[in-house]
Amino acid sequence: MSDKKTDVKDTGEKTGSVWIKNVSLSNRVNEDAIGIALTSVFQFERVFKLISRLVTNIVTAKYSSIMLIEGDILRIKYSNHLPKNVENECGVKVGESISGWAALTGVNVLVKDIEIDTRFAKKNNIRYSSKSFMTVPLLVSGKVMGVLNVNDKINGEVFSESDLNTLKIIARYSAIAIRNATLLEKAKKRSIVEQLDSDYYDKKDKYLPVTLKSLKIGPFNKSELYLRNNANGEHNYVLYWKGGDRLFANDKREEFIRKNINKLYVPKNGRKQYLRFMESNLEKVVGHEETSAKEKLGIARDIAVNIVSDLSTVPDEVCNIERAKQWINSIVGLVRNSGNNYIDMGSVKVDGPYLYGHSINVTMLSLIFAHHIGLNLEKIRELGLGMFLQNIGMKDVDPLIINKPTKLNSDEYTIIKKHSEIGFHMLQETGQVSPESCMLALLHHENLDGSGYPHGLKENDISLNGRISRVIDVYSAITSDRPYANARTSDAACVIMKEKMKGLFDTEVLGDFIDFVKSASAANKSTVVGAQ
Ligand SMILES: [Fe+2]
Repeated sequence: MSDKKTDVKDTGEKTGSVWIKNVSLSNRVNEDAIGIALTSVFQFERVFKLISRLVTNIVTAKYSSIMLIEGDILRIKYSNHLPKNVENECGVKVGESISGWAALTGVNVLVKDIEIDTRFAKKNNIRYSSKSFMTVPLLVSGKVMGVLNVNDKINGEVFSESDLNTLKIIARYSAIAIRNATLLEKAKKRSIVEQLDSDYYDKKDKYLPVTLKSLKIGPFNKSELYLRNNANGEHNYVLYWKGGDRLFANDKREEFIRKNINKLYVPKNGRKQYLRFMESNLEKVVGHEETSAKEKLGIARDIAVNIVSDLSTVPDEVCNIERAKQWINSIVGLVRNSGNNYIDMGSVKVDGPYLYGHSINVTMLSLIFAHHIGLNLEKIRELGLGMFLQNIGMKDVDPLIINKPTKLNSDEYTIIKKHSEIGFHMLQETGQVSPESCMLALLHHENLDGSGYPHGLKENDISLNGRISRVIDVYSAITSDRPYANARTSDAACVIMKEKMKGLFDTEVLGDFIDFVKSASAANKSTVVGAQ
């Protein structure tokens, strides 16, 4: 870039007085300088200020306003010297008044005296000392996006054809600058998923970048981590951390930061690593206003599958329990932010290995239902975490028994039933799970009439969360494909539970749950978890 261009660009961005010399050399408007200045700024506020300053200094007009089309209305987005009440007026319909006419026709308007101009003849607005003004459409690709209005030449003269030509140049590049700012604004509002994808996930590359901030102690301890070198315009990846090493410790992270290394890379061929990365961003994803609830739930569901998968491998590892808690907290936030809107639970349902899907389905369902019936935050969290971990004791049960496609024999059933107590003790021993959540591992197969296991508890011996967990556990099971039975519809599950499983459930909880399921189904015009 030449010195001159650099000078123009810098002064253009600053909208300083030096810049004026560049755009109006020897009393001749420097179109290049205007173009470079206006196309070098990208934020709306700065674009508008620069346009206004150009008009004031080059066209030497006291008043200016930028109006943009929203639907069929022109609205003032920025003005110079206009009173606030004028700026805040509701706008002008496209086609009406002079600004609206210019916006509709795309024709430049130069009026020397509004009171005698045969096109618009009307009384001059007392706000302006001159009866002369200009309105120029803002056009991009032949389409009008708004208009630039200019009133009152500072020296009191009427605006000339030369002024109009100058204003047209300013308007031409102003439209581009406004379009650029609009695109930038849209980019900022892109879905967080798209942002993460484009920021961190280069589709052409074989490695997935992870920021050091997202590298917590432990999460990547089984991954290979790579450093990236840039040489001759190409990326080379150097193995830094061999898979199988146990810890990625703080001192390592600090060492990278000292060396100005902000990202490390994992091989992209592992979806797991990607989900771990997304997991470390879940809070950000859930809080992102532009991402739909359905999309958020989809991401949360995928992350949950990954966590459950890790839990099934190392169920009592503190790190994995902590991950489950953080996931629950994020989803509770998401559910609470949904207000009184029913979440489309159909988008939450997890298919695949029954136990993975079941744990996540019952958890999602319990969080949404608990919020719906007004349980307090602590109770919702305890219920959710308990549901998430309730089958953790299945880890040691032979998968051949869990996935047996036919009826279990009595020995196999006895083995299965042990998962409640095994899970309860496993969770207790971590010291990381509250007693109420631990209890759900023990209670989720207890029936109100005492016919459940492992202890055959009855009625008030089973906590409210325990009674909720039983209803949701059975509902989720009936509405999911299991090794020995096909999924039933939501309506069928409600009928079965109400009429064919009498005595097993707290009638009040079951009634509330069925009402909730039916309302959610109707609200979403889709079926609830598991239903077809
Ligand atoms: Fe269970």
